[in-house]
Amino acid sequence: MKGVVFTEFMEMVEARFSADMVDDIIEDAQIKSGGAYTAVGNYPFAELVAMVSALSQRSGMRVPELVFHFGHYLFGRFATLYPYSIQACTSSFMVLESIEKHIHLEVQKLYPDAQLPDIQVVQSDEKQMTLLYRSPRCLAPLASGLIQGALDHFSEQGRITTEPLNAEGSEVRFVVELL
Ligand code: HEM
Repeated sequence: MKGVVFTEFMEMVEARFSADMVDDIIEDAQIKSGGAYTAVGNYPFAELVAMVSALSQRSGMRVPELVFHFGHYLFGRFATLYPYSIQACTSSFMVLESIEKHIHLEVQKLYPDAQLPDIQVVQSDEKQMTLLYRSPRCLAPLASGLIQGALDHFSEQGRITTEPLNAEGSEVRFVVELL
């Protein structure tokens, strides 16, 4: 997984919890590198899973809730770090439409080793959009948080309904309704 996901995760833990919490979860998760991540590196996805699990233990928050919060935080950071990726978009639905067609396509071109989900828009009108998420990393709560981040970015009110299509959560349907 791209280093930027790790560096942003550490930033979020420090901002939402504390610098001590960052040290604690690195220790709990037995991260060999000591958490010396760089945005341009590539790191095992299992390390992120271990740190999220350690954070859940220490904070008492459930893993999906933490991952959702991280997704929400990450959208704001992606919008700041890669403004060109969403600059043509004037609404959350435009962002969601362009994930596969532009945003992640560009990420994959820049970083051929990026591990991205498959996110298809299967229905869309002015008020409602249905998306299908597929990924072996089962990060639907991250996607949901990113979608919420996109809604907030454009000051839109919306409701996101998540419907798992299998037990592992590698296939999930999202319905996003604008309110
Ligand atoms: C609402 C909009 C977005 C959604 C729903 C979304 C969804 C996701 C999800 C769920 C992942 C985790 C990988 C997986 O599930 O298999 C991911 C990874 C990633 N996304 Fe997006 N994304 C969005 C917008 C963006 C934007 C604006 C950028 C900026 C360039 C971006 C760049 C990336 C990168 C760099 C990764 C990490 C790839 C890796 O670790 O190898 N995404 N995205």
